[in-house]
Amino acid sequence: MDSKTIHFRLNGRPVALQVQPHENLVEALRRGFQLYSVRESCGQGLCGCCTVNVDGVAVSGCLYLASRVDGCDVQTVEGLGTLDELSPVQQAFVECEAFQCGFCTPGMVMMVTQLLEEHPHPTNDEIKHYLSGNLCRCATYPEIIDAVHAAAKKWANRKEGAALAAAGSSTPAP
Ligand code: FES
Ligand code: FES
Repeated sequence: MDSKTIHFRLNGRPVALQVQPHENLVEALRRGFQLYSVRESCGQGLCGCCTVNVDGVAVSGCLYLASRVDGCDVQTVEGLGTLDELSPVQQAFVECEAFQCGFCTPGMVMMVTQLLEEHPHPTNDEIKHYLSGNLCRCATYPEIIDAVHAAAKKWANRKEGAALAAAGSSTPAP
């Protein structure tokens, strides 16, 4: 089969890439866009290192054919925040020192981001359930759980701040 050109949104901007039929999303994002946060470790859907978000759903990039993201919205950890303003999850991971070597961290951050989208105030059981497919060989699990709770607080504060700003901006001038 021949390669084909796909078009999709990557971290908020439209992009195009020629992909091979067998190429997975990890390979395509690293080759085409130098997004080295997207990492393949087990290559079998078991470790979560390769987690990226496709149309709002966390997927294992090692098992996801790149050609399938044609027309989709793809987000990697590079698209969550900036160096000057990290996302709540990224900031919480730093503050709680929720990593050692950091190899698993992008995948963890992507999965925690989805968790907080769906459960803004997660219980420990919900955290463990969502992160059951993300392995940390350095075993920083206690710090990761602390980071999720810290991120939930930051997430709520940021939403409250945004709501207040929106309410203020819609208030008619006296
Ligand atoms: S590399 Fe994809 S789940 Fe392990
Ligand atoms: S911090 Fe090293 S694998 Fe998780």
